[in-house]
Amino acid sequence: MTFAQAESDIRRIYETDKATFAEARIKLELKYGSTLQPTQNFNRRLVSFQANKDVKLHRWFKFKEAFSAQLVHRLIESFDLHPPCHILDPFSGASTTLLVANELDCDATGIEVLPIGDLVWKAKSQFGPQLISRLKEIRQWVESTPPGLSERPFPHVPITQHAFDAKHEAQLMWYVEQFAGFNENSSVNNLLKFVLLTILEDISYTSKDGQFLRWDSRSAKVRARNRQRIAAGKRLYKEFRKSSILEVKTAILKALDLIISDVALSKGSLNRSGKQRLIQGTVLETLPRQGAEQFDAVITSPPYCNRYDYTRTYALELAFLGMTNEEVIALRQDLISCTVENRSKLMRLRKMYESLGRLSDFDLVCDILSHNSAFQEILEALRIRSRRREVNNAGIISMVEGYFTELAFVTLELFRVCKPGAYVGIVNDNVRYSGEVIPVDLLMTDLAASFGFEPETIHVLDQRKGNSSQQMGKYGREALRKSILIWKKPGSLNAN
Ligand SMILES: C[S@@+](CC[C@H](N)C(=O)[O-])C[C@H]1O[C@@H](n2cnc3c(N)ncnc32)[C@H](O)[C@@H]1O
Repeated sequence: MTFAQAESDIRRIYETDKATFAEARIKLELKYGSTLQPTQNFNRRLVSFQANKDVKLHRWFKFKEAFSAQLVHRLIESFDLHPPCHILDPFSGASTTLLVANELDCDATGIEVLPIGDLVWKAKSQFGPQLISRLKEIRQWVESTPPGLSERPFPHVPITQHAFDAKHEAQLMWYVEQFAGFNENSSVNNLLKFVLLTILEDISYTSKDGQFLRWDSRSAKVRARNRQRIAAGKRLYKEFRKSSILEVKTAILKALDLIISDVALSKGSLNRSGKQRLIQGTVLETLPRQGAEQFDAVITSPPYCNRYDYTRTYALELAFLGMTNEEVIALRQDLISCTVENRSKLMRLRKMYESLGRLSDFDLVCDILSHNSAFQEILEALRIRSRRREVNNAGIISMVEGYFTELAFVTLELFRVCKPGAYVGIVNDNVRYSGEVIPVDLLMTDLAASFGFEPETIHVLDQRKGNSSQQMGKYGREALRKSILIWKKPGSLNAN
């Protein structure tokens, strides 16, 4: 393909209706054209939870936003990492990176803002053959004991109300009480709490479906809403029925069986030489407090800039862990800005950098962002679209602005905490709002280069997919890239 053809293809993607400018983004595409590498080595399955479905340990909790253990293995291999080495995952989720590091005897540090991640890590990292006989006894007890009904209510937050039918809820809370009464050691306790966490979706009327938490039409919540809609002469919500809602006892037995069979097959994590730890909190506040030049690699996947709200999708799990509504709302604001409700964190970040005596770093990030023409162009294009009433939610502009601003701070910190020669591997998706394509992969890479990273490769995965069909219908069927960004901190690891 000639340069002129490549440029005209790129123009077609960006200039959908010529209502805005795309010159800076087109320049970025041309600048990093040779860095973009279509790959068969990585695919969509590998960068999603799908490839974990049958993988022991990783399959215990369906964290749909996870990437696969296989992906982490492949990245570690491609970075030519061997123990002793220290890997960082600043968006640790279900701890996929930490668990693979454990398997390979590498040290690893994870950071995760959702408290769910903490319980998942505790349960998975403290497993071992020493637990098996006790787990089998508990399984036996569950199987032979008819479930009772507790009068203690599930600690709902408003958006989880009516997620269970009355019997399921009373039985779930009965198991909570029974398990607490067993007075187990903390490893078994964590596993039992974790078992209950993993079954919440299966025994509820809810389903984590794509972007949203879907509700079964039989739930009291949907029925009440439909009654209101009938009264208002509106159309009813589209019927949705989960294929199955498990009995609580069945779900617990299923979860325990999975754990018991995986633990029986494994050697356990206790005798491994690598050390892993999970820090619970927001990366924006915890990473700046980590020492410089300590990591040999970063393997991660931040939230995507796609309006996906982890605190809503996982509301049931957060409530189960005891979070109040106020805490869930506060947690939403701690997420990297990926929802239209996120407010700017800039003043908070300024204060923190000031308190760390690093105001010059704060100013550096702001300076880099204000001089990045692609970033500024995207924001201006969205403002133009908004004035043309083409942006269906005003929060999209602040989300996009917050997203890249916060990831720029994370990138500055990644550069600081990486050893010279360290590789960074990041999975992300490009997005499109109101026809404006946002090349997340290129913009993140360009910002990383401003902080000193060398862009190595952007692996472009096969089977691109567009975002919403509404967007594709209106602005063309151009697919969006899903990529793995590889950067390197200049220098050599061996020189350390
Ligand atoms: C795409 S998921 C990563 C999943 C992970 N790779 C795994 O295999 O489970 C992004 C994660 O970033 C977390 N996250 C969002 N904002 C964060 C923040 N400010 N600090 C730390 N983690 C955050 C989300 O809760 C989510 O678990």
